[in-house]
Amino acid sequence: MCGIVGFIGKKRAAPVLAKNLKKLEYRGYDSAGIATLAKGSFHLLRCAGPVAGLRGGGMLAGTCGIGHTRWATHGAPSEENAHPHIYGRFAVVHNGIIENYHALKEECEKRGEAFSSQTDSEVIAHLLERYYMGELLEALRAVCARLRGSYALAVMCANEPETIALAREKSPLIAGYSDGGTVCASDIPAVAKQGAELYAIEDGECAVMKKERITFYGMGGGEIDKSPLAFDPETEAPYRCGFPHFMKKEMAEIPAVLKAARPNLGDFRYEAFYEALCRAEHLQIAACGTAYHAGLAAKFAFESLARVRTEVSVASEYRYCDPIVPDGTLMLAISQSGETADTIAAARLAKERGAKVVAIVNAESSSLAALADYVIPVRAGREIAVAATKTFNAQLAALYSIAASLAEYRKKRGYGDVLAQLPGLAEAALAAGEGVRSWVPYFVGASSVYFIGRGADYVAALEGCLKLKEISYLPSEGYPAGELKHGTLALVEKNTPVVAVLTSRRLAEKMMSAIEEVRARGAKVFLITSLCEYAVAEGVTLSVVVPECGEIFSPALSVIPLQQLAYYVSIARGNNPDKPRNLAKSVTVE
Ligand code: M6R
Repeated sequence: MCGIVGFIGKKRAAPVLAKNLKKLEYRGYDSAGIATLAKGSFHLLRCAGPVAGLRGGGMLAGTCGIGHTRWATHGAPSEENAHPHIYGRFAVVHNGIIENYHALKEECEKRGEAFSSQTDSEVIAHLLERYYMGELLEALRAVCARLRGSYALAVMCANEPETIALAREKSPLIAGYSDGGTVCASDIPAVAKQGAELYAIEDGECAVMKKERITFYGMGGGEIDKSPLAFDPETEAPYRCGFPHFMKKEMAEIPAVLKAARPNLGDFRYEAFYEALCRAEHLQIAACGTAYHAGLAAKFAFESLARVRTEVSVASEYRYCDPIVPDGTLMLAISQSGETADTIAAARLAKERGAKVVAIVNAESSSLAALADYVIPVRAGREIAVAATKTFNAQLAALYSIAASLAEYRKKRGYGDVLAQLPGLAEAALAAGEGVRSWVPYFVGASSVYFIGRGADYVAALEGCLKLKEISYLPSEGYPAGELKHGTLALVEKNTPVVAVLTSRRLAEKMMSAIEEVRARGAKVFLITSLCEYAVAEGVTLSVVVPECGEIFSPALSVIPLQQLAYYVSIARGNNPDKPRNLAKSVTVE
């Protein structure tokens, strides 16, 4: 969370910084700020809210500067808490969390230093002022040695013109050559351009940016040689391509993504992974949010098709539950960004306890990919909307494919050619899903919404519920339909919208009983089904029929109308579906 940028070149830095920051807004938009350095003085502009609020920023003097877009952790999303923080001769932007900032701040306050923000980050500027002995990089190294937690840092010193020092520990940071100068950023799209040359700064590394050169160092030692990152400026560029929102564009990409995401495990690049997969005796999956739901859906495929025991954990719980990692465990860490701190920590722990780790990621040059033994890219292309849509379908396609290969290897259940048909079926699901627009009036003013399903349909219900909460702000709960009567049913009242997902013929009658139960309490039932006969069942207010693709793979299709429902309800409630409040795309803090 939080995006940082830096630039040194021949032109004014501020317009470049503002433009690049805008492309990082998916990382947070609680406040923004830019500081430039000209003739030994800092020029600062900050605002609460998104980067667009930095009016007049282009006029700031100086060809060297740093910028920040914030997702608030410590301190309210106000202008005074916006980065850059300036203290004495230093300006600092920080992404991450300084866990020991209380103690460090107290130490500074005892020395008579006054703080102007409630952030954990300002203490870094204070420490730089204390440790500076005439060399910015050395001061930064000394400060980093005092910090506990996570950070990507870009800092400037009024005494050192046209210099930015960088450091990284557990928060992403790249640096390189773009925009006619040297640049740094939290992520590639901020600075990806034709001809740009970019390098990843790894944990425990630092760097010095000058106008024409960047030098990379180990935190404690000498220079490091790096190879440039491979990226495609076309696909990295965040364009809406005529769609009203990124979320709409990204949902429209689902059919194509379902095709691209399936790894060809026969390819020599996956040889080592395939061998490890076939040897695996247990699978553990750790992930967060939507990626966790992809893991839950994959469990059905791994267990039912390949008969391999699969445990799925929320990554933030896995890492603190002293997990048992039996011999022969393969850990699948699923993450769109590959930068989710909890997922990375869970993968690291599993590795320490003897598991081989597979990173199922959309961002191939991510921290998770770097620590994993094997990487399966899901190739969904850049996802900008904070709510994950196409990457969920892509994760499913990759995981189903892996499960199917494993089933084949173990000569277990066949799955037909359904996976190859999914892209075409998804086209039909997208078209049918537009039908949810007629559902919107029932949801827009609701005080709560329930999503129910059984088996894999329950997983789709959970994901639909997360989408609705995230972008419409309607309190919602996803529930296994059979469990309602054990408590949650008490919350259902007259006109409460209940979204039921029903694609399992095996469980259809059970599901219809649950629908009866909520209907009897006055609920309005909205059905997403692949079983046409139930679409018009008594008691169903409105329904959408998606193509049938078998119970196990069904979430890849049934989730589509659920994503569309969340999108249209969000708009009807006056929200921007691409930028839900309080959230950020990439959660790089614990
Ligand atoms: O980048 P990751 O896949 O690791 O992100 C995990 C979650 O933060 C993410 O899926 C989040 O739940 C989405 N905003 C949901 O739409």
